[in-house]
Amino acid sequence: MCGIVGFTGTKDAAQTVYEGLKRLEYRGYDSAGVAVMSGGEINVVKKRGRVSGLGGEILGLHGNTGIGHTRWATHGEPSDINAHPHSSGRFTLVHNGIIENFAELKEKFFPNTAFVSQTDSEIIVRLIDKFFDGNALAAVAKVSALLKGSYALAVMCTGFEGIIVVKYKSPAVVGYGTDGNYIASDCPALAGLCKEISVLEDGDLAVITPSEVKFYGGDLKEIRRVKKRNHAISAALDLCGCPYYMLKEIRENAAAVKATVKAFSSVKKNLKAALVGVNRVIITGCGTAYNSGLIAKRYIESFAHIPAEAEIAGEFRYKNPVVGSGTAVIAVSQSGETADTVGAAELSKSLGAKVIAVTNAPYSALTRIADVVVPVEAGPEICVAATKSYTGQIAALYLTACLICGRDSSEINSLPELINSTVEHTDINSLAQICASANGVYFLGRDLDYAVAVEGSLKLKEITYIQSEGYPAGELKHGTLALIGEDKVAVVLITDKELAAKSENAVEQVLSRHGKVAVITNVAECAERLSGRVPVIPIPACSAELSPLLSAAAVQLLAYRTAIILKRDPDKPRNLAKSVTVE
Ligand code: AGP
Repeated sequence: MCGIVGFTGTKDAAQTVYEGLKRLEYRGYDSAGVAVMSGGEINVVKKRGRVSGLGGEILGLHGNTGIGHTRWATHGEPSDINAHPHSSGRFTLVHNGIIENFAELKEKFFPNTAFVSQTDSEIIVRLIDKFFDGNALAAVAKVSALLKGSYALAVMCTGFEGIIVVKYKSPAVVGYGTDGNYIASDCPALAGLCKEISVLEDGDLAVITPSEVKFYGGDLKEIRRVKKRNHAISAALDLCGCPYYMLKEIRENAAAVKATVKAFSSVKKNLKAALVGVNRVIITGCGTAYNSGLIAKRYIESFAHIPAEAEIAGEFRYKNPVVGSGTAVIAVSQSGETADTVGAAELSKSLGAKVIAVTNAPYSALTRIADVVVPVEAGPEICVAATKSYTGQIAALYLTACLICGRDSSEINSLPELINSTVEHTDINSLAQICASANGVYFLGRDLDYAVAVEGSLKLKEITYIQSEGYPAGELKHGTLALIGEDKVAVVLITDKELAAKSENAVEQVLSRHGKVAVITNVAECAERLSGRVPVIPIPACSAELSPLLSAAAVQLLAYRTAIILKRDPDKPRNLAKSVTVE
């Protein structure tokens, strides 16, 4: 949700910032810009479109201090004018977040001034310039105190060879390099550049110069922030010969599960202690993370017989939820920065619940709220569509459910091999061709298969733009069947022997209405019954409870192949961004 990056040191700032922006592009990619200090003056290049569109022009920016931005538009359409950086007087800044009171501030402080852009960010730079009385840090602090909403800001001031940073509810890290110091929205942007980073807390300010970094509270008293190891390594950002990150990351599903299982042993003790006395579990998250919660709910209820609910974080936090000291809230988030998930976790904590974070981002906001952090070890996920983080989440949640009731979880150790086999051998191309020419794709399943169906549908719609729904197979005849016709495809997931015959009913119901049907299954009897009648995509056999790890890989591949056939960019789908740090 917008990426910001900055550098001040001894090397070329424009090129350094540009490279950083390319790494952050998954946070937004509708426009981009760079500002560089040269001879005490700040020069800006900004444009609608992707970071690479800045290419030639930034070569004209010379200097050793610079900031940059890659945007996901909230206020104001993607355009050259609305692209960041924004400038006023001697100040230039980039902003990640939303200023909710920008209209009131404009009315109060600039009632008769026509602004250049339609953004909520321009007010910030205008105010900083207005309040500047010789102390840039004091002006930034004063303006921050007026802002409502979320912001990570990197601010440059003419004549000052450095960057002022302030953070509130949007992420920002400072990186310590050998050739200067950095600011970025997240750690992967600094992979290979900084071995150490410091994470800014809400309300922190920082002043970064080529030789030092200082942190301040809102009262401008100096504070300390610890240096931590930057775990992100640049090799993880390599495409490894794949045309897109999505394919690379689907291929990394097995490694994500394996590493997550390994890491789980280190949290078992604390997790067990946190769960003592818990008689109700709520799993919350957004998008794919919520979908992994649908699976966790089923695990916790069927393994541990503890009431469990999956709640969409953006709904949960505003519905006055019934949460108390006997409740554990499991907040699931790849980035650990999703505004609604972080908000839901904060609310739950304030209501007395135990908060457990399941996240792929060890220094994220969610980890700072949680009582216990269950790590997902998927490594950096660059593609906007979540893949390996989803299977990593399922593994972490499966192990959590097993831990609650002391259930044997050893079968999961054999899953990485089966996931690899699914990814390497599942022939999904003909089904992808069928989906690519369909006017709607319905993913159907029962119980755990339904949960994966919802994720399969999200994956397909977000990267192919084909209308798609995930439905419980039994619900088909209660309404959705009305939509079925020759131009529609139903993909039925069947991985539970006990429920196979019931889900096959849905196959028959679609066939009878001349809809196209395909089945993804690892139930041998089901494959036998349906072979020759409908396309059957076999996946390896394992227990029903762990089959989501295999069917997930199959539906991810289906979405990917369909996107390629339709010539869509699966890594950067239209209108989306990876880390949704605004509400
Ligand atoms: C998944 O493919 C998405 N692009 C999106 O739904 C994502 O899962 C959601 O925004 C939550 O992100 P998080 O896991 O970082 O919290």
